[in-house]
Parts: sequence; structure tokens; C-alpha cells
Amino acid sequence: MTFIVWAALAYVLGSIPFGLVIAKSLCNIDPRLDGSKNTGATNVARLCGFKYGVATLVFDVLKGLLPVAFAASWIDSEMALSLVGLAAILGHVFSCFMQFKGGKAVATTVGVFLALSPWGGILAAVLCLLMVWLTGHVSMGSLTFALALPVCMALTGHFAVVPMALVVMVILFWRHKENIRRLARGEENPWLKKE
Ligand code: G3P
Repeated sequence: MTFIVWAALAYVLGSIPFGLVIAKSLCNIDPRLDGSKNTGATNVARLCGFKYGVATLVFDVLKGLLPVAFAASWIDSEMALSLVGLAAILGHVFSCFMQFKGGKAVATTVGVFLALSPWGGILAAVLCLLMVWLTGHVSMGSLTFALALPVCMALTGHFAVVPMALVVMVILFWRHKENIRRLARGEENPWLKKE
């Protein structure tokens, strides 16, 4: 029962499209209509400016981190806790506030894994930032982050989280399929630039 309540709360929180709210209310721009058409921090930064992207990033990370961090006081099983995190990620991808459409869920995933395994999450995030710095493409960082997650969870001893990390890895690759096509064609958007 406790698990279902926390998973439902995480899903609803994960569903809040902060990027859409920030871009529409503060810049009068709908990120679903321009740039990569994603509601995430990268596209909000691209269309509205860096500080709006950072605000989106912070809120999207928190909506993954907070439900898992709070649920940890009620739920002992690390695997069950990882499923609460998965609910937040699925909320972002299939938002009940956006006709079950949504974003790519990278920032929310960062928050979830920082709560599940702080050192594992930090390691995966550092690899992500390194790849963004090396390639200039946020999507390359995101895909590296997705691949690194199961490994980082295992390296930090959080073996119970590895199955969920594998599922999330598949979700993130699926959500980045257009980015992967653009990367293969050499046409991926640099961050902060319009398509
Ligand atoms: O986290 C999303 C990022 O990996 C790609 O964003 O807007 O360039 O598709 P975007």
C-alpha cells in the first residue's frame, strides 16, 4: 500500500511539465513547437535562454529526487524504491498533464539516481557532462549517461537498482531516437542554438 501511494505521488510529480510551464509563462514560448520540440532543459535553454534552461533542469531533477528521497523513510526495499523512481520518470515521459505525451526524462532520471545512489548518480552525471564538453551535444551526454547508469549502480554496490537502470537505459535511448538519427547524419543541434 505504501509503495503504491509513493509510486502514484512520484508519477503525478513527474508528470508536471516544468519546462513547458517555465517557457510558456516566463518567455511566452511553447517549446513543443520549436527547436527539438522537447520540453526539457536543453530545448528551453535553446529557445528561451540559459537561465530558463537551468531553472527547468533544477525543477526536473527535483521532481525525480524528492519522491525517492522521501519514500526512502517508508520503504526499505531498494528495488521497490527504484520503482518509485521509475514512476517519476514515466510521469515525465507519459505526463497525465500533457495527454500522456512528454519529454526525454534525462534530468528527472538524474534526480532519481542521485537519490538512489548519490555516488553512482554523480559518477554517471560527470560522465554525461564530460561527453557534452567533448562533443558539444547534450544528447551525446544523455546517451552516455543512460549507458553508464547500470554500470555506476553496480560499481557503487546498488545491485538491486540495476534492473530498473537497464529499463531506464532503454527508455532514454528510445526517447532519443530522433537525436540518434541526427547524430548519425551529423545534423544534431548544438546546444543553445536553434534548429
Ligand atoms: O536531455 C535532452 C537532451 O539529451 C537532448 O535535448 O532538445 O537537443 O533534443 P534536445
